[in-house]
Amino acid sequence: MDLSTEQQAILRGEKGTLLQKCMQTLVKYGNFFSAQELIPIKSAHLVLSGGSIILRTYLEILENMAAEGIQFAVPTTVNPRLTTKHLGIVQKIAQRYLFQKDNQFRHHYRKMGGIETYSCTPYLGDNTPQRGDILAWAESSAVIFANSVLGAKTNRNSGVIDLISAVLGITPLMGLLLDENRRANWEIIVDAEEIDYAVLGYVIGEKVKDGIPYIKGLHGTADDFENMGAAMAASGGVGLYHIEGVTPEAVQVKDALLLPDCQTLTLTDPLLKKVRERLGHGRKKVKTVLLGCPHLFYAELVQLTTLIEGCHTRKGVTLWMNSSPSAIRKFNQSEHFEEFEKTGAVLMSLCPLAFLQLPSLRNRWILTNSGKLRYYAPVYYAPLKECLREAVGGDING
Ligand code: F3S
Repeated sequence: MDLSTEQQAILRGEKGTLLQKCMQTLVKYGNFFSAQELIPIKSAHLVLSGGSIILRTYLEILENMAAEGIQFAVPTTVNPRLTTKHLGIVQKIAQRYLFQKDNQFRHHYRKMGGIETYSCTPYLGDNTPQRGDILAWAESSAVIFANSVLGAKTNRNSGVIDLISAVLGITPLMGLLLDENRRANWEIIVDAEEIDYAVLGYVIGEKVKDGIPYIKGLHGTADDFENMGAAMAASGGVGLYHIEGVTPEAVQVKDALLLPDCQTLTLTDPLLKKVRERLGHGRKKVKTVLLGCPHLFYAELVQLTTLIEGCHTRKGVTLWMNSSPSAIRKFNQSEHFEEFEKTGAVLMSLCPLAFLQLPSLRNRWILTNSGKLRYYAPVYYAPLKECLREAVGGDING
């Protein structure tokens, strides 16, 4: 691998042993994938976001970096928190044990200059990439959104590699950073009337695995694509998709993005219905409805409030709406908050996957409209409006 003079100096240990180890790791990682060089990044996003007892080594690395005064070399954001106050006493005790190092994590992260977004939608505020920007992001739902909808370029990095890239400000030039690797090997034709984006993403991910789909016949909004991409990145290993006439590269390059030997898949209403039913299969009496994985946008919080305005959650049923701290702050100060409070729904800001590890929560019969959460956790899937009807026990507005 060709290294710059500065990179070679770090590799020789001229900026301390910790950065030397970081550089050694990144060079080995890049060499493994035959990268020719390490290139500058515009920003980083870290997937690991708290002091869990199962992440002791990671916390130690962070602690050592902070103690040596190492700073993030580029704007760096971080995934949602792992703890919440919205739990019963038994779960709170378990949570306190599992995530007992949370405060230390935040302390070190802050000391290193990390931006305290605590969200998987960093692109909505503090870390918004421009088209063509090179990034070193982890968190599959954010990676796929940045690559596909924003037209930035990042690989699906792992925890630790994201941290190392953030402190060095560089990443190996390989994978999805190279234009030749961003062409689609799957042509997906959507020939359906009833589009459920989470289900669509789920089935595409299952089919194309870690391929790149070029989707035809689809229009939607950023939040539709966010939910679709998160599901696709979970049920498969997809890091990038294109939508004909919609996503930036598809608008510019058009059908030339499709590799000549690509495979084709047609998605019809009966097929999507079958998958939707499979994802909701086995559902019993719902006790919790959970929306917002990935985090809900501010506009979605407003839209959801409008849908359930004048309704109230059913007795014994919790409606959790999960969003970023910054969107929640904005929402709390908005004219919609008063109406929201009357509905009995609860706002929270965390990664629900963390608390779904708590044994006493596993049997809460959770219903969600998130394809990603359905893939990773013991929950049941239903489309958004069905989730809301289940939560408030009747008609919603619209
Ligand atoms: Fe975000 Fe956690 Fe879901 S990181 S996408 S809320 S699993």
